[in-house]
Amino acid sequence: MSAVVIVGAQWGDEGKGKVVDLYTERADWVIRYGGGPNAGHTLVVGDEKIVVRLLPSGILREGTRCVLGQGMVIDPAVLLSEIDELVRRGRNGIEKRLLISDRAHLILPYHITIDCLREAKAAACNALGTTKKGIGPTYEDKARRTGIRTGDLRDPVRLRERIALAIEAWAPTIVALGGEVPEIDAILKPLLELAERIVPLLSSVSLIVDKALRDGAHVVFEGAQGTLLDIDHGTYPFVTSSSAVSGGAAIGVGVGPNRIRNIIGITKAYTTRVGAGPFPTELDDADGIHLREVGAEFGSVTGRPRRTGWLDLPALRYAARVDGIDGLAITKLDVLTGMQRLRICVAYDTPAGRTDDFPIDDMEVPGRITPVYHDMNGWNETLCNARRLDSLPGKARAYLDFISEQTGIPLYLVSVGPKRDETVMLHNPLI
Ligand code: GDP
Ligand code: IMO
Ligand code: MG
Repeated sequence: MSAVVIVGAQWGDEGKGKVVDLYTERADWVIRYGGGPNAGHTLVVGDEKIVVRLLPSGILREGTRCVLGQGMVIDPAVLLSEIDELVRRGRNGIEKRLLISDRAHLILPYHITIDCLREAKAAACNALGTTKKGIGPTYEDKARRTGIRTGDLRDPVRLRERIALAIEAWAPTIVALGGEVPEIDAILKPLLELAERIVPLLSSVSLIVDKALRDGAHVVFEGAQGTLLDIDHGTYPFVTSSSAVSGGAAIGVGVGPNRIRNIIGITKAYTTRVGAGPFPTELDDADGIHLREVGAEFGSVTGRPRRTGWLDLPALRYAARVDGIDGLAITKLDVLTGMQRLRICVAYDTPAGRTDDFPIDDMEVPGRITPVYHDMNGWNETLCNARRLDSLPGKARAYLDFISEQTGIPLYLVSVGPKRDETVMLHNPLI
């Protein structure tokens, strides 16, 4: 048995799609445990680029079963169009390999309306910069106990009752935001059409995954978003609404935490963030532009330019702690090629003195903390052909060694380009 969580250690977009796709070469199951179509995980196979939003990144591996866990919020229209797009591109048997928890929550059109209206209203001052996919309102419904679960699709009478209850609960909010309260049938009818394809995929995921683990299967739990966007451990309130940390896998799938044998944390060789919120090592100079342009740092879901900055080791140490990271996958090292001086944040000056921890609670007040940088020399060599550590330039190796030493975490993988083979694979816990 081998159960591995692959989790983003930053503010998302660390390259989870590529890393999960690589590690699932030997996985029997790959399971998304949280979030929804706010995720955009890029897979590059040959010359083809596919961005998955709800489907797990193992979906291109024909021998791998894919699961959407109960911690997820699922927009059924997005899911079916994602499946249809893959079929259109010649990938068959997707639905045969896919299971959906009957306890996952459904994103319905009113959730998206509320998300968009709120963002528009807040735009002038304090919008969160959400992906406008209805994520926050759907998780609010879950916590308020007015959510609609995938399993409700099996029973149209119950479904109608649940939708009526939810619309009643949201009506004052929608009116206050200047929106129009939807009719029940306007929600129910299109949903029942989508349900015909969703219901056959529903299943008791906890039971099935538990059995697979007992039978010795290799299972990958695929994180979405990133540790610093986690509802509990992120830079609140500038976070998403789910448990993005590794522990979210146990909750979001329904397996005991002791089943998880290994946790891989992914970090870019620098830092990015989409949306609002603190980002202490952010750059607004030529180095920041280099990272955005060479790294093609534009959102996979929204196309928004990503904010860019230096690698933040206190943030990585923080992620290592809250996720329990056993091994690091460092992506996009190739993007640093051509930068003369590389800076890495190693500590913070705070009102209470210098700390090498991530001073997350001091970040709400601008200017209260200052990053302390360690400077390193850059390199000019192209990295994308490297397949072993010793074929990287010495300065790139020194950069990697510094990260590993400073965090005390071994390197499992270094990614030097978006393609599958543009990788230095050092350790695969699934073997
Ligand atoms: P995810 O949300 O964590 O799966 O990451 P995204 O797919 O949103 O963004 C990562 C982007 O970086 C995608 O466009 C990937 O194709 C690309 N990428 C992944 N690894 C590398 C790498 O090592 N080098 C370069 N240049 N691009 C990479
Ligand atoms: P992947 O899985 C990067 C960010 C949004 C916003 C905040 C809240 O591709 O790494 P939400 O729509 O979730 O209510 O938005 O979270 N965000 C992400 N940023 N990558 C993601 O997913 C994200 N999912 C949400 O930009 O700041
Ligand atoms: Mg992404």
